[in-house]
Amino acid sequence: MDLAYLNQIPAEEFIQRRQRVFEQMHDNSITVLFSACEQTRNNDCTYPFRQESNFWYLTGFNEPDSALVMIKKDGHTETCLFLRAKDPLMETWNGRRLGVNDAPSQLNIDNAYTIEDFRNKFATWVKEEHFDTLYIKTHQQKHAIPNADFCRNLFVNKQIIDLSHILDEMRLFKSRNEIALMQQAGQISALGHIRAMKETRPNRFEYEIASEMLHEFNRHGARYESYGSIVAGGNNACILHYTENDQPLKDGDLLLIDAGCEFAMYAGDISRTFPVNGKFSDAQRDLYNLVLDIQKYAIKHLIPGNCIQDVNDAIVRILVEGLVKLGIMQGDVDELIKTEAYRQFYMHGLGHWLGLDVHDVGSYSKNCDNGDRNSKRRDRPLEIGMVLTVEPGIYISENADVPEKYKGIGIRIEDNLLMTEYGNKVLTSAVPKEIDEIEALMQNT
Ligand code: GLY
Ligand code: MN
Ligand code: MN
Repeated sequence: MDLAYLNQIPAEEFIQRRQRVFEQMHDNSITVLFSACEQTRNNDCTYPFRQESNFWYLTGFNEPDSALVMIKKDGHTETCLFLRAKDPLMETWNGRRLGVNDAPSQLNIDNAYTIEDFRNKFATWVKEEHFDTLYIKTHQQKHAIPNADFCRNLFVNKQIIDLSHILDEMRLFKSRNEIALMQQAGQISALGHIRAMKETRPNRFEYEIASEMLHEFNRHGARYESYGSIVAGGNNACILHYTENDQPLKDGDLLLIDAGCEFAMYAGDISRTFPVNGKFSDAQRDLYNLVLDIQKYAIKHLIPGNCIQDVNDAIVRILVEGLVKLGIMQGDVDELIKTEAYRQFYMHGLGHWLGLDVHDVGSYSKNCDNGDRNSKRRDRPLEIGMVLTVEPGIYISENADVPEKYKGIGIRIEDNLLMTEYGNKVLTSAVPKEIDEIEALMQNT
């Protein structure tokens, strides 16, 4: 299988990652991790295959129906891969397979077996080696559950540890090679947005703009979107994860686009909002500049040492003050913040980790080691090597009780930030967000 466009992480890095997992495993333990499987779209047709991110992170292997097993016993380690057998007939119909013979040298693993042997082998190892700990993902993908349950059942009365505790922290801090890929993901995503701005005009359909973007991603070597593009004209922008993308664009409306490419498995995630006809109205300008001011404030403060929570608390104040000033909210600013009345207009978080997954893994809480992985307080200090999004928004639905001119406007501005020793680096700055720049770009087409 030609992975050139996909895998731009050197082989040694996959070895090092597995090494780091081994270092964190107890002696006398075994780790198992399953690949993704193909998903049916209709009858015997499948969606394009996307490898499970953790499995990719540790193997760089892009086939379905596989399992990685890592054994640590008396200080010795062994890495095994279970994968589909070579099958000339199946390969003629459905594509090449690496196969058991080539897997060890290609992937730098110790041993390879066919996936059909998985249960027997695993049960034999557990029986003969008397492992006392199993590392496995607690939240398994649906397809993996039968095999995951099989493994767990062999460890009743022994210790089972969620493998995510190890992998999430590793993935949160990006290596040099990962950063290089994420920079490219950010740049190519930006090119897609620039194309969208140039190609947007009244009466084109939302999905046409989505396809313009995908074409631009493809032209630069990014085969896929990193999530379903959101191309939302007018009031559709108030549906946060709008992906129907089937409406014509209307003169006078804004268009909110939240889209990014996946480059070599790493995600870009950009949002821009601009007028369908290329010129902001006064009301659109008022709201847009408020979101832009908030976003710039957040970018200034999302730097190593600070936490998302503090920055979000600060921008909520700017937001509420701004909404009161525009007559969209009424009352005492402190009270509106305390009662969270603003959440009808800003109902999501300020940002999220970004990496192999668009909503990437890693705890947001500084108490992550104390089992507080799902804490809502995002009080973990940012550190060098983390990548996150910054994406404030204001959404005023058609039905909101606000001045008429603000109804049906949704605005989000989203960029991707890399934490560095110098502060942060905006990976997605190539796409304009100042009103003058956007209008100039759209008029020159
Ligand atoms: N594209 C989804 C998000 O921005 O979180
Ligand atoms: Mn987004
Ligand atoms: Mn995002």
